[in-house]
Amino acid sequence: MTVALLSDVHANLVALESVLRALPPVDAIWVMGDTVGYGPDPVDTLALLRERGARIVAGNHDRAVATGLGLELFNPVARAAAECHRSWLSAEQRDLLGALPLTLEPADGYLICHGSPRDPLWEYVFDARTAVESMAATAAPRCCVGHTHVPARFVTGDGRAMINPGSVGQPRDGDPRAAYALLDTASGLVTFERVAYDIALTQRRIRDRGLPAFLAERLAAGR
Ligand SMILES: [Fe+2]
Repeated sequence: MTVALLSDVHANLVALESVLRALPPVDAIWVMGDTVGYGPDPVDTLALLRERGARIVAGNHDRAVATGLGLELFNPVARAAAECHRSWLSAEQRDLLGALPLTLEPADGYLICHGSPRDPLWEYVFDARTAVESMAATAAPRCCVGHTHVPARFVTGDGRAMINPGSVGQPRDGDPRAAYALLDTASGLVTFERVAYDIALTQRRIRDRGLPAFLAERLAAGR
């Protein structure tokens, strides 16, 4: 089947809508966490992904916004945004967010999580060595992750693979366009995609809602 891999949407509804418009017909949408945090539209972003039937795991920002736990681990800007989001969500929406699983196995041989199979909420996988080590925590031959906001594909010596589609809502690889990937689960073929979106609109919404200005500025640089 064909799957759209989305991660780290970070409440950037404008970017998410642009990605969804750009998608070819897909059989499923898998979301590797951090649906909220940083951006201006946490409620509508979560609602849209649920409406589209996405399979969604929890990221560190999702857990912090849902429960208030782990906020002390964030930098001041991330923490300020998470506290805003926590106050904007209803109790019911926070419960929904808090109930997202750490890992899912949405199709044969595929495990999805936010950070890594070894530490689903917090581990950053930036290199092949960390990918190999962290995949020892699962028997799944293929993993889809997020968290770094940098698209990547690591193949281990035994033919296992870890795929990171990059970030829809706050890319950090120097390309400000929204990032996602398309996966053919049968062949394992991955194509990394980018789509331009109205960055100025998201920036305006961030400022209008009283979030830290830095969160708007960084979107233009993709850092
Ligand atoms: Fe993130």
